[in-house]
Amino acid sequence: KSIGVVGVPFSGGQPRDGVDQGPLKIIEFGLLDQLKELDWQVKFDGHRDYNLMQPASDPPVGKLLNARFVSAVTESVATSVAAHLKEGSLALTLGGDHSIALGTVSGTMSVHPNAGLIWVDAHADINTPESTESGNIHGCPVSFLLGIAGQLKEFAWVKPCLTPDRLVYIGLRDVDAGEKKILRENGIKAFSMHEVDKYGIAKVVEMAIEHVSPGGSRPIHLSFDVDALDPTVAPSTGTPVRGGLTFREGHYICEAIHETGALVAMDLMEVNPSLEDDHAVFQTVTIGCSLVRCAVGETLL
Ligand code: ARG
Ligand code: MN
Ligand code: MN
Ligand code: MN
Repeated sequence: KSIGVVGVPFSGGQPRDGVDQGPLKIIEFGLLDQLKELDWQVKFDGHRDYNLMQPASDPPVGKLLNARFVSAVTESVATSVAAHLKEGSLALTLGGDHSIALGTVSGTMSVHPNAGLIWVDAHADINTPESTESGNIHGCPVSFLLGIAGQLKEFAWVKPCLTPDRLVYIGLRDVDAGEKKILRENGIKAFSMHEVDKYGIAKVVEMAIEHVSPGGSRPIHLSFDVDALDPTVAPSTGTPVRGGLTFREGHYICEAIHETGALVAMDLMEVNPSLEDDHAVFQTVTIGCSLVRCAVGETLL
């Protein structure tokens, strides 16, 4: 069993510096060795310098910021993820901001067109170029994947590759008004923190898996934004929101998805080691590492 690791030191999908240092920090903390200890053969692409892809000029496209830069980086990420999957490896992408998932999910869907997407996040990241208030593309990747973002020539490479019935959210608690409308109109299944409280995490994850991959029948892509976790357990992230998943709830999600045997790709996004103090960074990076380990088979017993 082998795992292809794509580190994407990229922050252009949002305004705060430092999230591009996420992959380096996660690897510095020993994730690759930890994976080897779990008997994975690790293929690490190396620290690519995606900044070389930054165009000299990248004026706003409507409200969207850094559109050309985001597009170039995510296209390259899609190729890297697809290459690992074609070789039969599990694809693990370390962010970087969540705009990168435009690339990772496109890559997964190019190899496994019927895959289900489980998006664990405080945010829905489903704004369209029209609905976004911030212009930050990390708040928009899902709309591009679904093909509801409209045609932008800057994102000509993006093919709509996701359907609403193959998407499910867990952990939502900061959803923009425009996004709520989009979720409703497209009949998208979402388990907010309200449902986590109501049903408990085990039932929520069971229902989420049942929705996108009944009985593990479809490949699963897990896109995990570390801000899904409560800021008390993962403080070093750019858009923290109170009332999030506990340490164990986050891990339970990863353990239960591993148990399906259907996981083909995972993203760990929005770890920003420049935010908060050393202790906070340690907490955030180590929880990121342990979420990944659980998703690829680490068990408590
Ligand atoms: N909804 C807000 C926006 O569109 C926040 C998005 C936060 N996304 C994230 N990946 N942390 O700007
Ligand atoms: Mn988020
Ligand atoms: Mn908000
Ligand atoms: Mn996100």
